[in-house]
Amino acid sequence: MQVIYTGADWQKYWFKFLKSDKSIGLIPTMGALHEGHLDLVRKAKEESDIVIVSIFVNPTQFNNQEDFDNYPATLNEDLSKLKSENVDFVFIPKIDTIYPEKPKLSINFGDLETVLEGAFRPGHFNGVGIVVSKLFNIIKPHKAYFGQKDLQQTGIIKRLIKDLSMDVQLVIVPTRREDDGLAMSSRNLRLSPEERSQALILINSLTKAKQELLAIKPWFEVQNQIKRDFEEMSLASLEYFEMIHPDSFMNYMDFDASQKSSICVAAYLGKIRLIDNLPIIS
Ligand code: PAJ
Repeated sequence: MQVIYTGADWQKYWFKFLKSDKSIGLIPTMGALHEGHLDLVRKAKEESDIVIVSIFVNPTQFNNQEDFDNYPATLNEDLSKLKSENVDFVFIPKIDTIYPEKPKLSINFGDLETVLEGAFRPGHFNGVGIVVSKLFNIIKPHKAYFGQKDLQQTGIIKRLIKDLSMDVQLVIVPTRREDDGLAMSSRNLRLSPEERSQALILINSLTKAKQELLAIKPWFEVQNQIKRDFEEMSLASLEYFEMIHPDSFMNYMDFDASQKSSICVAAYLGKIRLIDNLPIIS
């Protein structure tokens, strides 16, 4: 496994791979790797000849300085996990490599900015769009692997690729969960034991809502009950609980079994913000 730090380091390998017709799969990450990230790596190993993982905690996508300052950093463990998965390259750019200057460009994803994560984390998707574009331009992968855990992020990457005619194929990998159902997330490392146990309300409320919708309970009743369930928790506070179309991300007012739908949730456990989602009809 080669660790590289700059685009120039990569360029010489890339040329070689291009000439020998090797396909390149990129997995962009911010480190603090867990089994969810490693599922992306495993999928890439199945279908790409050369697998490269990037680790870069991207400051421009954090709309909360404290969240950025406290983002877990576990580089040595990350590298040994990636080595065990037989990853070919790890790209660990320095901040100046990605941002020699503060970008003047900003990316607005239109109506995707006004719902869910877009609405609650102003500027977040601009930061994601910029850094992912830079990573695609530096690495020039054939395929890029993203997790369904960040459903709206996959939606904005789809638009980025389409709107800028990028030559990258997006591969979406299902959400990996702990045995009790909590979606794996680097931020779970920062939960206290009590917050960790109350965090189960995310997956429990998604599952409960799905069952009730399929049993034809009206959405407003389902949603109101979930809001009350959150109010009863001492450490959890709900930010949103919405039923959306998983391509347009527009809100549904009621359930329609003939249309694709997912439920998305965001909540704070203490100071830690977690998100999750569950497809209802896919
Ligand atoms: P990060 O949160 O490190 O996640 C990297 C990738 O792993 C994302 O595609 C995310 O959706 C996926 N992932 C995280 N938890 C997962 C889980 N439990 N199951 C499956 N996949 C999971 O997402 C980012 O970083 C950044 O926004 C990034 C795309 C790297 C841009 O900075």
